[in-house]
Amino acid sequence: MVASVAATDIEKQIVDLYRERFPISKQHHDKILQFIPGGATRSLSYFKPYPIHIDYGQGAYVFTPEGHKLFDVTNAYGALVHGHGDPAIVGAVQAGIAKGSQYSAPTLGQYELAKLLCDRVPGLEKLRFLNSGTEATLFALRTARAYTGKDKIIKMSGGFHGTHDCVAASTQKGVVTAGIPAGMTADIIEVPFNDFDAIENAVSENASHLAAVIMEPFLGAGGIVLPAEGYLEHVRAVTAAQGVLLIFDEIFSLRVNTGGCQKLFGVTPDLTTVGKLVGGGLPIGVLGGKTEIMNIFCHESTSEPLYHSGTFNGYETVMQAGIAAVKKYDEDAVSHVNQLGESLQRGIMESASNNGLNIQCNQIGSLLNIHFVNEPVTSVDQVAKSVTQLHDLLHLSLLNKGIFSIPRGLLILTTVMTGEEIDFLIAKIDETFTELMPLVRDQYAHLLL
Ligand SMILES: Cc1ncc(COP(=O)(O)O)c(C=O)c1O
Repeated sequence: MVASVAATDIEKQIVDLYRERFPISKQHHDKILQFIPGGATRSLSYFKPYPIHIDYGQGAYVFTPEGHKLFDVTNAYGALVHGHGDPAIVGAVQAGIAKGSQYSAPTLGQYELAKLLCDRVPGLEKLRFLNSGTEATLFALRTARAYTGKDKIIKMSGGFHGTHDCVAASTQKGVVTAGIPAGMTADIIEVPFNDFDAIENAVSENASHLAAVIMEPFLGAGGIVLPAEGYLEHVRAVTAAQGVLLIFDEIFSLRVNTGGCQKLFGVTPDLTTVGKLVGGGLPIGVLGGKTEIMNIFCHESTSEPLYHSGTFNGYETVMQAGIAAVKKYDEDAVSHVNQLGESLQRGIMESASNNGLNIQCNQIGSLLNIHFVNEPVTSVDQVAKSVTQLHDLLHLSLLNKGIFSIPRGLLILTTVMTGEEIDFLIAKIDETFTELMPLVRDQYAHLLL
């Protein structure tokens, strides 16, 4: 279909205004391109026509080199749960690093963060520290395979567990990432999230070779797709019945509750990975689980413990930041940020309806995802139907209006935010929906109420 002049104009106006408002970011982008391919060292940080650059962050805001103050709803993809430069975390890091940042020996900082997490998260009886979520899920799978002596792993289509080969390879779409050997998928079985029969059949058909099922309790990066009622319980029951380990990857989802989704839904896995917020914004990954399984790493319980080393494991400064962040993320803080999430979801849906838009906004706690889809989004296939052009324009137009969001419609809130700031965000989303309506009417009539 050929776009009408009005619809084409909308895109041009938004992109032109973006270029006008962020000229210094463009200069920085050109500069960084000389040494960093793509101009961003993380694929997700790049967007067209070029990404904004950030000078510094403070509380709920980031500041660009142009001097724009942007309300930040990206929050380092969930690593920041208290906003930027939280005084308790900064203080802990400064005091900690002055004493020394990292040692070739265990510390009580590691004990303290481990205890805090084990006290909170039902599935964490013992744990090990790593440096990223990717590393944590890599070791989760290795642990499950070593413990069970089996090789096969089931994962969910649309689930995200980082970038190592085993989880980045997709059996459904073929190997999606160039550079991953085709054989990597030989021991991976993929099932659709929220499909009760698919998981039951896959587990029972493969039980004799199956080490574990790895899953996020809800699809996070995949679009905040929530588990159908009884789904997590069902997966727990079918894995337990066949002696297959269940791994919950709560690297993203932990923040919905002090004890993660496993506490919220009352379903305890055998192994759990956490990360992001538990490092207070510094790099971290954590793998933990039942004592009996985690003792595979214990020199005092087994003659040949599973080898797990890493120069930066249990980095002392990260421990200090993590302890401060986790302590501060108590029941009151969780309840505050989750209420903001609920108001934002209500506000977005009201605005959509006032504009005549039939779209979705999935939400759990402080995490939301707008979907330009005209039916409830409960599967990864529905997420895939969302209209990319509308996401791109919503994202750029919000930047023009002082909001820094994630291009695919994911919104991540922090405890430092207030109800007034959420109202401001809703107002800006509302203005953008209104701005986009001529394009929707012209090109995407299926999204009209
Ligand atoms: C559920 C989940 N697992 C694993 C990862 C990978 O973590 P990292 O980016 O720290 O390697 C992420 C990151 O977004 C995640 O959301």
